[in-house]
Amino acid sequence: MAGIGGRATMTPGYDAIVLGAGAAGLFCAALAGQRGRRVLLIERADAPGKKILISGGGRCNFTNIHTAPDRYLSANPHFAKSALSRYTARDFIDLVDRHGIAWHEKTLGQLFCDGSAKQIVAMLRDEGAKGGVDLALGRQIADIAHADGRFRVTHGGRTDAAPALVIATGGPSIPKMGATGFAYDLARQFGLKVVEPRPALVPLTLGGEDVLFRDLSGVAADVVARCGKTEFREAALFTHRGLSGPAILQISSYWRHGDEIGIDFLPERAGGWLPAAKRAHPRGTVRALLRDALPDRLAATLAERLGADGDLDNLPDRVLSAAERQLADWRFRPNGTEGFAKAEVTIGGIATAGLSSKTMEAKTVPGLYAIGEAVDVTGWLGGYNFQWAWASGWAAAQAL
Ligand code: FDA
Repeated sequence: MAGIGGRATMTPGYDAIVLGAGAAGLFCAALAGQRGRRVLLIERADAPGKKILISGGGRCNFTNIHTAPDRYLSANPHFAKSALSRYTARDFIDLVDRHGIAWHEKTLGQLFCDGSAKQIVAMLRDEGAKGGVDLALGRQIADIAHADGRFRVTHGGRTDAAPALVIATGGPSIPKMGATGFAYDLARQFGLKVVEPRPALVPLTLGGEDVLFRDLSGVAADVVARCGKTEFREAALFTHRGLSGPAILQISSYWRHGDEIGIDFLPERAGGWLPAAKRAHPRGTVRALLRDALPDRLAATLAERLGADGDLDNLPDRVLSAAERQLADWRFRPNGTEGFAKAEVTIGGIATAGLSSKTMEAKTVPGLYAIGEAVDVTGWLGGYNFQWAWASGWAAAQAL
Protein backbone atom coordinates (compact mmCIF):
# COMPACT_ATOMS: atom_id res chain seq x y z
CA MET A 1 0.00 0.00 0.00
CA ALA A 2 1.27 3.49 -0.77
CA GLY A 3 0.55 6.94 0.55
CA ILE A 4 -1.57 8.88 -1.93
CA GLY A 5 1.47 10.87 -2.99
CA GLY A 6 3.34 7.64 -3.69
CA ARG A 7 5.38 7.05 -0.48
CA ALA A 8 5.31 3.63 1.20
CA THR A 9 3.42 3.50 4.48
CA MET A 10 2.91 1.29 7.48
CA THR A 11 -0.52 -0.22 7.87
CA PRO A 12 -2.02 1.51 10.90
CA GLY A 13 -5.54 1.20 12.18
CA TYR A 14 -7.79 3.54 10.29
CA ASP A 15 -10.43 6.03 11.38
CA ALA A 16 -12.21 5.80 8.03
CA ILE A 17 -12.18 3.68 4.90
CA VAL A 18 -13.36 5.39 1.71
CA LEU A 19 -14.42 3.13 -1.17
CA GLY A 20 -13.81 4.60 -4.64
CA ALA A 21 -11.09 7.07 -5.62
CA GLY A 22 -13.22 9.12 -7.97
CA ALA A 23 -14.08 12.78 -7.56
CA ALA A 24 -16.07 12.43 -4.33
CA GLY A 25 -13.86 9.78 -2.70
CA LEU A 26 -10.54 11.50 -3.45
CA PHE A 27 -11.82 14.81 -2.10
CA CYS A 28 -13.51 13.38 0.98
CA ALA A 29 -10.49 11.24 1.90
CA ALA A 30 -8.11 14.20 1.49
CA LEU A 31 -10.20 16.52 3.67
CA ALA A 32 -10.74 13.91 6.37
CA GLY A 33 -7.01 13.19 6.36
CA GLN A 34 -6.26 16.89 6.72
CA ARG A 35 -8.58 16.93 9.73
CA GLY A 36 -6.29 14.41 11.35
CA ARG A 37 -8.19 11.24 10.47
CA ARG A 38 -6.24 8.18 9.35
CA VAL A 39 -7.87 7.34 6.04
CA LEU A 40 -7.61 4.37 3.70
CA LEU A 41 -8.92 4.99 0.18
CA ILE A 42 -9.61 1.79 -1.79
CA GLU A 43 -9.98 1.89 -5.58
CA ARG A 44 -10.70 -0.98 -7.94
CA ALA A 45 -9.04 0.58 -10.98
CA ASP A 46 -5.28 0.85 -11.40
CA ALA A 47 -5.42 4.67 -11.18
CA PRO A 48 -7.62 7.20 -9.39
CA GLY A 49 -10.02 9.70 -10.94
CA LYS A 50 -10.53 8.07 -14.33
CA LYS A 51 -13.84 9.83 -14.99
CA ILE A 52 -12.27 13.14 -14.07
CA LEU A 53 -9.59 12.53 -16.71
CA ILE A 54 -12.11 12.03 -19.53
CA SER A 55 -14.49 14.71 -18.31
CA GLY A 56 -15.15 17.91 -20.19
CA GLY A 57 -13.39 16.55 -23.28
CA GLY A 58 -10.18 16.12 -21.22
CA ARG A 59 -10.37 19.60 -19.67
CA CYS A 60 -12.73 18.78 -16.77
CA ASN A 61 -15.68 21.07 -16.32
CA PHE A 62 -14.96 21.07 -12.59
CA THR A 63 -17.78 23.30 -11.33
CA ASN A 64 -20.49 25.75 -12.34
CA ILE A 65 -20.72 29.26 -10.92
CA HIS A 66 -24.53 29.07 -11.14
CA THR A 67 -24.73 26.06 -8.84
CA ALA A 68 -28.07 26.06 -7.04
CA PRO A 69 -30.20 23.26 -5.58
CA ASP A 70 -32.87 23.64 -8.28
CA ARG A 71 -30.32 22.44 -10.83
CA TYR A 72 -30.27 18.99 -9.25
CA LEU A 73 -32.77 16.14 -9.57
CA SER A 74 -33.58 13.92 -6.61
CA ALA A 75 -36.62 12.23 -5.10
CA ASN A 76 -36.08 14.84 -2.35
CA PRO A 77 -35.22 18.13 -4.07
CA HIS A 78 -34.30 19.69 -0.69
CA PHE A 79 -31.64 17.13 0.20
CA ALA A 80 -28.72 18.71 -1.65
CA LYS A 81 -29.30 22.21 -0.23
CA SER A 82 -27.26 21.87 2.94
CA ALA A 83 -24.10 20.42 1.39
CA LEU A 84 -24.22 22.73 -1.65
CA SER A 85 -24.55 25.79 0.56
CA ARG A 86 -21.71 24.81 2.89
CA TYR A 87 -19.19 23.91 0.18
CA THR A 88 -19.75 26.16 -2.81
CA ALA A 89 -18.38 26.55 -6.32
CA ARG A 90 -16.38 29.52 -4.95
CA ASP A 91 -14.73 27.26 -2.39
CA PHE A 92 -13.62 24.83 -5.08
CA ILE A 93 -12.42 27.66 -7.34
CA ASP A 94 -10.30 28.93 -4.43
CA LEU A 95 -8.74 25.49 -4.11
CA VAL A 96 -8.05 25.31 -7.85
CA ASP A 97 -6.50 28.80 -7.65
CA ARG A 98 -4.33 27.82 -4.69
CA HIS A 99 -2.93 25.04 -6.88
CA GLY A 100 -2.20 27.52 -9.66
CA ILE A 101 -4.49 25.76 -12.14
CA ALA A 102 -5.58 28.16 -14.88
CA TRP A 103 -9.26 27.98 -15.87
CA HIS A 104 -11.85 29.73 -17.98
CA GLU A 105 -15.62 30.00 -18.21
CA LYS A 106 -16.69 28.33 -21.43
CA THR A 107 -20.40 29.06 -21.42
CA LEU A 108 -23.33 29.18 -19.00
CA GLY A 109 -21.12 29.37 -15.91
CA GLN A 110 -19.19 26.19 -16.82
CA LEU A 111 -15.58 26.35 -15.60
CA PHE A 112 -12.94 24.28 -17.40
CA CYS A 113 -9.17 23.87 -16.94
CA ASP A 114 -7.20 25.81 -19.54
CA GLY A 115 -4.78 22.89 -19.61
CA SER A 116 -5.88 19.40 -18.71
CA ALA A 117 -8.16 17.41 -16.40
CA LYS A 118 -4.94 15.74 -15.20
CA GLN A 119 -4.33 18.89 -13.18
CA ILE A 120 -7.49 18.30 -11.15
CA VAL A 121 -6.51 14.70 -10.41
CA ALA A 122 -2.98 15.85 -9.48
CA MET A 123 -4.50 18.50 -7.21
CA LEU A 124 -6.70 15.93 -5.46
CA ARG A 125 -3.76 13.54 -5.05
CA ASP A 126 -1.69 16.36 -3.65
CA GLU A 127 -4.44 17.25 -1.15
CA GLY A 128 -4.64 13.57 -0.22
CA ALA A 129 -0.90 13.42 0.34
CA LYS A 130 -1.20 16.44 2.65
CA GLY A 131 -3.78 14.48 4.60
CA GLY A 132 -1.60 11.35 4.74
CA VAL A 133 -4.25 9.29 2.94
CA ASP A 134 -3.28 5.71 2.10
CA LEU A 135 -4.38 4.79 -1.40
CA ALA A 136 -4.88 1.14 -2.31
CA LEU A 137 -5.23 0.76 -6.09
CA GLY A 138 -6.30 -2.22 -8.17
CA ARG A 139 -8.24 -3.78 -5.29
CA GLN A 140 -11.26 -6.02 -5.70
CA ILE A 141 -13.43 -5.74 -2.65
CA ALA A 142 -14.23 -9.32 -1.66
CA ASP A 143 -16.28 -8.70 1.46
CA ILE A 144 -17.54 -6.00 3.80
CA ALA A 145 -18.62 -6.95 7.28
CA HIS A 146 -19.93 -4.78 10.10
CA ALA A 147 -19.72 -5.78 13.74
CA ASP A 148 -18.96 -4.10 17.06
CA GLY A 149 -19.11 -0.66 15.46
CA ARG A 150 -16.36 -1.46 12.95
CA PHE A 151 -16.48 -2.02 9.21
CA ARG A 152 -14.13 -4.76 7.99
CA VAL A 153 -13.24 -4.52 4.32
CA THR A 154 -11.52 -7.47 2.69
CA HIS A 155 -9.67 -6.41 -0.45
CA GLY A 156 -6.79 -7.90 -2.38
CA GLY A 157 -6.20 -10.66 0.16
CA ARG A 158 -6.12 -8.44 3.26
CA THR A 159 -8.65 -6.99 5.67
CA ASP A 160 -8.71 -3.44 6.99
CA ALA A 161 -11.12 -2.13 9.57
CA ALA A 162 -12.40 1.27 10.65
CA PRO A 163 -15.35 2.71 12.56
CA ALA A 164 -16.42 4.69 9.47
CA LEU A 165 -17.01 3.56 5.89
CA VAL A 166 -17.73 5.94 3.00
CA ILE A 167 -19.41 4.64 -0.15
CA ALA A 168 -18.01 6.72 -3.03
CA THR A 169 -18.08 4.18 -5.84
CA GLY A 170 -20.26 6.24 -8.18
CA GLY A 171 -23.06 5.01 -10.43
CA PRO A 172 -23.33 2.54 -13.32
CA SER A 173 -22.89 5.03 -16.17
CA ILE A 174 -20.18 4.01 -18.68
CA PRO A 175 -19.79 0.32 -17.71
CA LYS A 176 -16.84 -0.06 -20.05
CA MET A 177 -14.92 2.11 -17.57
CA GLY A 178 -15.77 -0.43 -14.88
CA ALA A 179 -18.80 1.43 -13.51
CA THR A 180 -21.28 -0.85 -11.77
CA GLY A 181 -24.14 -0.79 -9.28
CA PHE A 182 -21.72 -1.79 -6.50
CA ALA A 183 -22.78 1.18 -4.34
CA TYR A 184 -26.42 0.11 -4.51
CA ASP A 185 -25.66 -3.51 -3.57
CA LEU A 186 -23.65 -2.29 -0.62
CA ALA A 187 -26.35 0.16 0.44
CA ARG A 188 -28.96 -2.60 0.29
CA GLN A 189 -26.67 -4.86 2.32
CA PHE A 190 -26.97 -2.26 5.09
CA GLY A 191 -30.74 -1.89 4.70
CA LEU A 192 -30.71 1.39 2.77
CA LYS A 193 -33.20 1.92 -0.04
CA VAL A 194 -32.22 2.65 -3.62
CA VAL A 195 -34.21 4.88 -5.98
CA GLU A 196 -34.36 3.05 -9.30
CA PRO A 197 -31.29 4.10 -11.29
CA ARG A 198 -31.67 5.21 -14.89
CA PRO A 199 -29.35 6.79 -17.44
CA ALA A 200 -29.24 10.59 -17.49
CA LEU A 201 -27.47 13.23 -19.58
CA VAL A 202 -27.83 10.68 -22.35
CA PRO A 203 -28.71 10.80 -26.07
CA LEU A 204 -32.31 9.89 -26.96
CA THR A 205 -33.17 7.40 -29.69
CA LEU A 206 -35.85 7.88 -32.33
CA GLY A 207 -38.00 5.30 -34.07
CA GLY A 208 -41.29 5.23 -35.96
CA GLU A 209 -41.99 8.30 -38.07
CA ASP A 210 -39.14 10.23 -36.50
CA VAL A 211 -36.63 7.77 -37.86
CA LEU A 212 -36.40 9.87 -41.03
CA PHE A 213 -34.66 12.55 -39.00
CA ARG A 214 -31.70 10.18 -38.65
CA ASP A 215 -30.78 11.18 -42.19
CA LEU A 216 -29.74 14.47 -40.61
CA SER A 217 -26.97 12.76 -38.63
CA GLY A 218 -24.30 15.33 -37.78
CA VAL A 219 -26.54 18.40 -38.17
CA ALA A 220 -26.74 20.71 -35.13
CA ALA A 221 -28.88 23.74 -34.32
CA ASP A 222 -29.43 26.09 -31.40
CA VAL A 223 -32.89 25.16 -30.10
CA VAL A 224 -35.12 25.16 -27.06
CA ALA A 225 -35.82 21.57 -25.98
CA ARG A 226 -38.80 20.98 -23.69
CA CYS A 227 -40.15 18.10 -21.66
CA GLY A 228 -43.19 18.94 -19.56
CA LYS A 229 -42.50 22.27 -17.88
CA THR A 230 -38.71 21.99 -18.15
CA GLU A 231 -36.83 23.57 -21.02
CA PHE A 232 -33.21 24.16 -22.03
CA ARG A 233 -31.87 26.47 -24.67
CA GLU A 234 -28.69 25.02 -26.12
CA ALA A 235 -27.51 23.09 -29.17
CA ALA A 236 -29.28 19.92 -30.31
CA LEU A 237 -27.54 17.43 -32.57
CA PHE A 238 -29.14 14.85 -34.85
CA THR A 239 -27.34 11.49 -34.68
CA HIS A 240 -27.61 8.22 -36.57
CA ARG A 241 -29.70 6.91 -33.67
CA GLY A 242 -31.72 9.97 -32.73
CA LEU A 243 -30.97 13.17 -30.84
CA SER A 244 -28.04 14.40 -28.77
CA GLY A 245 -26.23 17.68 -28.01
CA PRO A 246 -26.38 19.63 -24.74
CA ALA A 247 -30.07 20.61 -25.01
CA ILE A 248 -31.08 16.98 -25.46
CA LEU A 249 -28.71 15.62 -22.81
CA GLN A 250 -30.19 18.11 -20.34
CA ILE A 251 -33.78 17.27 -21.20
CA SER A 252 -33.04 13.51 -21.11
CA SER A 253 -32.74 13.73 -17.33
CA TYR A 254 -36.38 14.82 -17.17
CA TRP A 255 -37.64 12.43 -19.87
CA ARG A 256 -39.48 9.22 -19.05
CA HIS A 257 -40.48 6.45 -21.44
CA GLY A 258 -43.61 7.49 -23.32
CA ASP A 259 -43.02 11.25 -22.92
CA GLU A 260 -42.86 13.52 -25.92
CA ILE A 261 -40.24 16.20 -26.20
CA GLY A 262 -40.89 19.48 -27.98
CA ILE A 263 -38.25 21.37 -29.92
CA ASP A 264 -38.41 25.02 -30.86
CA PHE A 265 -36.18 25.22 -33.91
CA LEU A 266 -36.45 29.01 -34.13
CA PRO A 267 -36.36 30.33 -30.56
CA GLU A 268 -35.47 33.84 -31.77
CA ARG A 269 -38.59 34.23 -33.90
CA ALA A 270 -41.60 36.04 -32.43
CA GLY A 271 -45.14 34.82 -33.13
CA GLY A 272 -46.48 35.90 -36.53
CA TRP A 273 -43.09 35.95 -38.29
CA LEU A 274 -44.15 33.68 -41.17
CA PRO A 275 -47.27 35.64 -42.24
CA ALA A 276 -45.16 38.81 -41.86
CA ALA A 277 -42.46 37.29 -44.08
CA LYS A 278 -45.10 36.49 -46.70
CA ARG A 279 -46.04 40.16 -46.88
CA ALA A 280 -42.43 41.25 -47.10
CA HIS A 281 -41.36 38.56 -49.61
CA PRO A 282 -44.41 37.11 -51.39
CA ARG A 283 -42.15 35.21 -53.81
CA GLY A 284 -40.14 33.62 -50.99
CA THR A 285 -40.58 30.03 -49.78
CA VAL A 286 -40.74 28.49 -46.33
CA ARG A 287 -37.68 26.44 -47.20
CA ALA A 288 -35.65 29.53 -48.13
CA LEU A 289 -36.73 31.31 -44.96
CA LEU A 290 -35.72 28.32 -42.86
CA ARG A 291 -32.39 28.17 -44.64
CA ASP A 292 -31.69 31.72 -43.42
CA ALA A 293 -31.82 30.51 -39.83
CA LEU A 294 -30.95 26.79 -39.90
CA PRO A 295 -28.44 24.44 -41.56
CA ASP A 296 -29.49 23.62 -45.15
CA ARG A 297 -30.25 19.93 -44.61
CA LEU A 298 -32.35 20.63 -41.54
CA ALA A 299 -34.20 23.46 -43.29
CA ALA A 300 -34.96 21.18 -46.25
CA THR A 301 -36.21 18.31 -44.07
CA LEU A 302 -38.41 20.54 -41.93
CA ALA A 303 -39.87 22.33 -44.96
CA GLU A 304 -40.65 19.00 -46.63
CA ARG A 305 -42.36 17.66 -43.54
CA LEU A 306 -44.33 20.86 -43.02
CA GLY A 307 -45.84 20.38 -46.48
CA ALA A 308 -45.89 24.17 -46.98
CA ASP A 309 -44.44 24.14 -50.49
CA GLY A 310 -44.47 26.84 -53.13
CA ASP A 311 -44.39 30.63 -53.01
CA LEU A 312 -45.48 32.15 -49.72
CA ASP A 313 -47.98 34.21 -51.70
CA ASN A 314 -49.92 31.04 -52.51
CA LEU A 315 -50.09 29.82 -48.91
CA PRO A 316 -52.97 31.03 -46.71
CA ASP A 317 -52.00 32.68 -43.41
CA ARG A 318 -53.64 29.84 -41.47
CA VAL A 319 -51.25 27.33 -43.13
CA LEU A 320 -48.29 29.58 -42.33
CA SER A 321 -49.43 30.03 -38.74
CA ALA A 322 -49.79 26.26 -38.34
CA ALA A 323 -46.28 25.77 -39.79
CA GLU A 324 -44.97 28.40 -37.40
CA ARG A 325 -46.56 26.63 -34.42
CA GLN A 326 -45.05 23.33 -35.48
CA LEU A 327 -41.59 24.83 -35.90
CA ALA A 328 -41.87 26.32 -32.41
CA ASP A 329 -42.94 23.03 -30.82
CA TRP A 330 -41.88 20.13 -33.05
CA ARG A 331 -42.89 16.96 -31.28
CA PHE A 332 -40.67 13.91 -31.07
CA ARG A 333 -41.51 10.75 -29.19
CA PRO A 334 -38.16 9.11 -28.37
CA ASN A 335 -38.37 5.33 -28.10
CA GLY A 336 -35.52 5.15 -25.58
CA THR A 337 -32.09 6.39 -24.62
CA GLU A 338 -28.64 5.18 -25.56
CA GLY A 339 -28.49 3.71 -22.05
CA PHE A 340 -25.80 3.58 -19.40
CA ALA A 341 -23.20 2.94 -22.11
CA LYS A 342 -23.52 6.59 -23.18
CA ALA A 343 -24.97 8.24 -20.07
CA GLU A 344 -22.79 10.88 -18.46
CA VAL A 345 -24.45 10.25 -15.11
CA THR A 346 -27.05 8.15 -13.33
CA ILE A 347 -30.32 9.46 -12.00
CA GLY A 348 -31.52 7.73 -8.86
CA GLY A 349 -29.27 5.84 -6.48
CA ILE A 350 -29.01 5.53 -2.71
CA ALA A 351 -32.21 7.06 -1.35
CA THR A 352 -31.63 10.34 0.42
CA ALA A 353 -34.42 9.53 2.90
CA GLY A 354 -31.99 7.21 4.65
CA LEU A 355 -29.15 9.76 4.83
CA SER A 356 -28.44 12.90 6.86
CA SER A 357 -28.30 15.87 4.48
CA LYS A 358 -25.76 17.51 6.80
CA THR A 359 -23.24 14.67 7.04
CA MET A 360 -24.29 12.08 4.40
CA GLU A 361 -24.32 9.48 7.21
CA ALA A 362 -26.87 6.69 7.09
CA LYS A 363 -29.54 7.35 9.70
CA THR A 364 -29.82 3.69 10.67
CA VAL A 365 -26.15 2.65 10.37
CA PRO A 366 -23.87 4.94 12.37
CA GLY A 367 -20.49 5.30 10.67
CA LEU A 368 -21.75 4.49 7.16
CA TYR A 369 -21.69 7.37 4.67
CA ALA A 370 -22.58 7.74 0.98
CA ILE A 371 -21.39 10.57 -1.28
CA GLY A 372 -21.18 11.62 -4.92
CA GLU A 373 -23.02 10.00 -7.79
CA ALA A 374 -23.87 6.91 -5.72
CA VAL A 375 -26.50 9.06 -3.97
CA ASP A 376 -29.85 9.98 -5.51
CA VAL A 377 -28.73 13.52 -6.42
CA THR A 378 -28.05 14.30 -10.09
CA GLY A 379 -27.01 17.63 -11.50
CA TRP A 380 -27.51 19.32 -14.81
CA LEU A 381 -24.87 19.13 -17.49
CA GLY A 382 -22.09 21.68 -17.00
CA GLY A 383 -20.00 21.05 -13.89
CA TYR A 384 -22.94 20.53 -11.53
CA ASN A 385 -22.17 16.86 -10.94
CA PHE A 386 -18.59 17.47 -9.91
CA GLN A 387 -19.78 20.25 -7.59
CA TRP A 388 -22.08 17.71 -5.94
CA ALA A 389 -19.15 15.29 -5.61
CA TRP A 390 -17.04 18.01 -3.92
CA ALA A 391 -19.87 19.30 -1.70
CA SER A 392 -21.09 15.89 -0.53
CA GLY A 393 -17.49 14.74 -0.02
CA TRP A 394 -16.79 17.86 2.02
CA ALA A 395 -19.93 17.34 4.15
CA ALA A 396 -18.99 13.76 5.00
CA ALA A 397 -15.36 14.70 5.68
CA GLN A 398 -16.44 17.20 8.37
CA ALA A 399 -18.23 14.39 10.19
CA LEU A 400 -15.59 11.67 9.91
P1 FDA B 1 -16.77 8.38 -9.90
O1 FDA B 1 -17.40 7.52 -10.93
O2 FDA B 1 -15.97 9.55 -10.33
O3 FDA B 1 -15.80 7.51 -8.99
C1 FDA B 1 -16.16 6.27 -8.49
C2 FDA B 1 -14.88 5.48 -8.26
O4 FDA B 1 -15.17 4.28 -7.58
C3 FDA B 1 -14.20 5.11 -9.56
O5 FDA B 1 -12.84 5.45 -9.50
C4 FDA B 1 -14.41 3.60 -9.64
O6 FDA B 1 -13.38 2.91 -10.33
C5 FDA B 1 -14.45 3.24 -8.17
N1 FDA B 1 -15.15 1.99 -7.90
C6 FDA B 1 -16.31 1.53 -8.43
N2 FDA B 1 -16.63 0.35 -7.92
C7 FDA B 1 -15.66 0.05 -7.02
C8 FDA B 1 -15.43 -1.05 -6.15
N3 FDA B 1 -16.26 -2.08 -6.12
N4 FDA B 1 -14.35 -1.02 -5.36
C9 FDA B 1 -13.48 0.01 -5.38
N5 FDA B 1 -13.64 1.08 -6.19
C10 FDA B 1 -14.72 1.08 -6.99
N6 FDA B 1 -19.42 16.02 -14.50
C11 FDA B 1 -19.12 17.32 -14.41
O7 FDA B 1 -19.52 17.95 -13.42
N7 FDA B 1 -18.39 17.94 -15.37
C12 FDA B 1 -17.91 17.27 -16.47
O8 FDA B 1 -17.17 17.84 -17.29
C13 FDA B 1 -18.26 15.91 -16.62
N8 FDA B 1 -17.89 15.22 -17.72
C14 FDA B 1 -18.19 13.87 -17.82
C15 FDA B 1 -17.80 13.16 -18.96
C16 FDA B 1 -18.07 11.82 -19.06
C17 FDA B 1 -17.69 11.07 -20.31
C18 FDA B 1 -18.72 11.14 -17.98
C19 FDA B 1 -18.98 9.65 -18.03
C20 FDA B 1 -19.11 11.85 -16.86
C21 FDA B 1 -18.87 13.21 -16.77
N9 FDA B 1 -19.27 13.95 -15.64
C22 FDA B 1 -18.99 15.29 -15.59
C23 FDA B 1 -19.93 13.30 -14.50
C24 FDA B 1 -18.87 13.06 -13.40
O9 FDA B 1 -17.79 12.33 -13.97
C25 FDA B 1 -19.47 12.28 -12.25
O10 FDA B 1 -20.61 12.93 -11.77
C26 FDA B 1 -18.46 12.16 -11.11
O11 FDA B 1 -17.29 11.50 -11.58
C27 FDA B 1 -19.04 11.41 -9.94
O12 FDA B 1 -18.04 11.32 -8.96
P2 FDA B 1 -18.02 10.07 -7.96
O13 FDA B 1 -16.77 10.21 -7.20
O14 FDA B 1 -19.29 9.97 -7.24
O15 FDA B 1 -17.94 8.80 -8.93
